[in-house]
Parts: sequence; C-alpha cells; structure tokens
Amino acid sequence: MKVLGISCGRRNGNGELLLKRALKTVEENGHEVEYLRLQDFYIAPCTGCELCSGPDSHKDGVFTPKCVHKWDEDDFQFIIEKVLESDGLIISAPAYQLTVPGILFTFFNRIHCYGFARHTKEADAQKRVFASIGVGGSDMLNLFSPFINFIGTELCGSQMDRLIDQMLVYYCAPIKGITLRPEAFARAERLGQNIAEALKELPGRTTYRGDKNEVCPVCHNDIVQIQDGKVRCPVCNFYGKAEIVDGLLKVTFDGGEDASRFKDNAAEEEMHKQQRSPYEAVKEHKDEVDRVFKEWTSYLQPLKKPGK
Ligand SMILES: Cc1cc2nc3c(=O)[nH]c(=O)nc-3n(C[C@H](O)[C@H](O)[C@H](O)COP(=O)(O)O)c2cc1C
Repeated sequence: MKVLGISCGRRNGNGELLLKRALKTVEENGHEVEYLRLQDFYIAPCTGCELCSGPDSHKDGVFTPKCVHKWDEDDFQFIIEKVLESDGLIISAPAYQLTVPGILFTFFNRIHCYGFARHTKEADAQKRVFASIGVGGSDMLNLFSPFINFIGTELCGSQMDRLIDQMLVYYCAPIKGITLRPEAFARAERLGQNIAEALKELPGRTTYRGDKNEVCPVCHNDIVQIQDGKVRCPVCNFYGKAEIVDGLLKVTFDGGEDASRFKDNAAEEEMHKQQRSPYEAVKEHKDEVDRVFKEWTSYLQPLKKPGK
C-alpha cells in the first residue's frame, strides 16, 4: 500500500524529520512511501466563487470537481492526485499562531472543489487512514489538533474513523532542535507503526491508537464549546454532559458517533437542504435582491494598490 507524507513546515525542519521517522517505519512494514513539502509548491488561494458547490458541480447525484482555477494554473492538481492515490496520509505541521500554517489552509480550501467528505462519501470513505504530527516552539498548540485532524480526515473522505494517531511536540523552535529529542523520534516511530497496523484494517472501520482518551470519542480532540448552557464538541457538533467528579470537570458525549454531524443521517440531509434554500430564494426574490445589492455595492469602494 502507499502512504503519503505532507510536510507543512520548514525545509528539513523539526516536523519534517519526525515525518520521515514515521514514514521509514511504514516502509519497513512493506509499504511504499512518498512525501512532499508544501513550501515547494504554489497553490493559488480559493476565491470563494462557490463554483464547486453550485449546481454544475453536482448534477443528478454525480459529482464533477469544478474550480475557477485552471487545473494547470498551479500545483494543486499534482498534490491532490498524490493524496487520491494514497492509502494512508500523515500530515506534519508546525504550530503557527496556535493553529496550523496558512499554506495548509490554502491547500485545504482548494479541496472544497472535490467535496471530499460530502460527495465522495460512498466511493472514498473507508479507504484511507490518517495520522498527524505537530511541533511547537512553545506549548501553545491549543487550537492545532482540531484543525490538522479535521483537514486530514476530510482528505480521507470521512471524519468518522479515519484518524489513527496524533502526536504533539512542545518547546522545539530552533532548526535541528528536534535532533536532541529522542523521545519524539520514538513517538514518531510508533505513529508510523500505528499507521502500518491500521492499513491492515482497510477497507473498513479502523481503530484509533492515540495515547489517551480525548474528550470527544469521534474526532479525538480535547476541545469543547459551551453553548446554551450545554457543552458541545465544536467539530462533531453534538452536545454532551459536564459534571464535577472528584473535583475535576468530566465531559461525556453519550450519543456516540450516531450523534455526530458527520454521520450520514437525517440531520446532515436537513443541513444540505438548508444550504440549498438561499440559492432558490435569491432567484425567487430577484428584484429585492438586486435593489439591496445595488445599494451596498455602490456605497464606498475598496482601496486599491497605488498605480493599479
Ligand atoms: C509564524 C509563526 C508562528 C508560530 N506560532 C507558534 C505558536 O502559536 N505556538 C508554538 O508553540 N509555536 C509557534 N511557532 C514556532 C514553530 O511552531 C516552531 O518553530 C516549529 O518547530 C517549526 O517547525 P518546523 O521546524 O517543522 O518548521 C511559530 C512559528 C512561526 C514561524
């Protein structure tokens, strides 16, 4: 089987060396490995044109990727094809401002045209496994895991059970700093072993092999949101219960994965229906739409670069 590594940090940076440690173990288990460094490629930013979610992209249940960017305009197509031909994916990234680097987000926005989790559910789900590696110069990786894991699992076609393992390394900013952290290399080796083990479970449901029981049993993130006086997983969108046990806060999500927004259920279908309705409304109320639109587009113009 084939495992692709995506390195999102510096050339030969700390995360990249850990990624290679993990990939070497995958290779030693008899699999083919490749990796790419996002900084070596140019990915044009998404313009938000919505061509990818519009009716031309999804006709009679058949999904055809559509994007305003030409396929040969930048390196996106090369990278996405590498992802699509892989059975396993490991993304390694540094923490930038508590979360993942912009270059990974730029790539992620562009995959919207593939409608991964939504449109390839049947074809792609149960096909690819994912693990993440994060490195920070401090311990400020607070928002990192939900983002990198969401991106990775989306690239696997389903958020439901594709995450196999995740590791974080703190306080490692200098280039080559990771060379003095043998425990991090040992953990990356285990992450590679976990991916190799999970590949044996394909196609089909896979088992999470991370170090601990994170709060959410579905996305395996430790981040919770308080909404309407209730706790909720902001990724999976389901509500849980919070209680104090032995002086510590304990959050449980009883509904399990059936309650997750990513489960292909009636709630998700309802969400899609609601997403489509504004398109119909814009057509139906054309005169009013045009009047308000004209009012605000004619007021105040954006600054332009001098000379342009
Ligand atoms: C723009 C920028 C923002 C950063 N923000 C954070 C941060 O929020 N938290 C943190 O722990 N480290 C932060 N760092 C430090 C990097 O995560 C750290 O240097 C890491 O080792 C880089 O990984 P690499 O060697 O794989 O490129 C930041 C670095 C840069 C360049």
